[in-house]
Amino acid sequence: MEQPTPIDNLLAALDPLPLAVFLLAPDRRVAGCNRAAAALFPAAPVGADFVQAVRHPECLRAIEATLGEARETTLELTLNRPVNASYRVHSAPPAGEIAGVGAVISFEDITERRGAEAMRSAFVANVSHELRSPLTALGGFIETLKSGAGDDPEARSRFLEIMESEAGRMNRLIGDLLSLSRVEEEERLRPAGRVRLAPLLRRVVAMLETQAGAAGVTLTLRTDAPHDDLPGDEDQLQQVFLNLAENALRYGGKTVEITLPPPRDVPGIDGPALVVSVRDDGPGIAPEHRVRLTERFYRIDDSRSRALGGTGLGLAIVKHIVARHRGRLMIESQPGAGSTFSVALPLA
Ligand SMILES: Nc1ncnc2c1ncn2[C@@H]1O[C@H](COP(=O)(O)OP(=O)(O)O)[C@@H](O)[C@H]1O
Ligand SMILES: [Mg+2]
Repeated sequence: MEQPTPIDNLLAALDPLPLAVFLLAPDRRVAGCNRAAAALFPAAPVGADFVQAVRHPECLRAIEATLGEARETTLELTLNRPVNASYRVHSAPPAGEIAGVGAVISFEDITERRGAEAMRSAFVANVSHELRSPLTALGGFIETLKSGAGDDPEARSRFLEIMESEAGRMNRLIGDLLSLSRVEEEERLRPAGRVRLAPLLRRVVAMLETQAGAAGVTLTLRTDAPHDDLPGDEDQLQQVFLNLAENALRYGGKTVEITLPPPRDVPGIDGPALVVSVRDDGPGIAPEHRVRLTERFYRIDDSRSRALGGTGLGLAIVKHIVARHRGRLMIESQPGAGSTFSVALPLA
């Protein structure tokens, strides 16, 4: 039996790590690598020049600096394996003498972090954009009123009305942003209370009755669940069904039906679940929109949503609340044949 070399021992220790690690000989050949590295760079077998695997000039300069001058370097690079993945590359000489090893190179996958950063900055850009248009409108009307147009009482009251509605829009947006951040913060905390769904849905319907009447929409509720009691956060679940029912009133057709049938099994949920469905007979939602509806600020028709007082955040809030309750949001729709938004919530 041959004795394991120091390189063998080192690789055995590195093998279980998700981080891809290469050991390079002083002449830039691969002296060894762990499993993650072999998976990332199948074209860099032991004994091959590392240049064959990574043709990135900046990365090679870092390796040369380590092998030639014992310098430690960190850099970021994008590899298109599998698709545009971002890596933080770290190149350093080994901390102690290891025969045959001149550099230790690691590749840390930071794609997710980069993606989260990109989402955060897109979110800030969206919020700024959403706030800017009502603010611009307000500023414009203030200028107009100052310039003397306010002397005409009729024009003046018309301007003030528009200003009021723009201020209302900003207020709704800020309200939704605050509830989104609160819901996100609490997402890991299990709801502590218990909620009875049938009375909660009756309240939601009562709150929307006037709005439905004004829009000429028939809003009905049918509950026939013998047990409608489950762990949950009352205010949050009310917000879920208000958002879904309000959407159905706004974007649907002439009837909206909310149902709460007896508990059943739902894929992805342990044990029986209560499923509340909000069905409308509106134009429906095409599949390419349907998969994106819960993204923040995603709307099928921006100007329609704005005109109806929407912020584009309702379904994002719904998604987080449902996740906090370990439930599922399901959206079914056939273009031309209405939409059904169902929320399944575990009974226990
Ligand atoms: N029942 C529905 N039928 C058709 N489209 C809908 C329905 N519910 C939501 N949508 C679409 O999803 C978008 C996002 O909904 P939401 O997040 O509640 O934002 P908002 O209602 O403020 O626009 C809406 O703008 C609308 O385009
Ligand atoms: Mg909405």
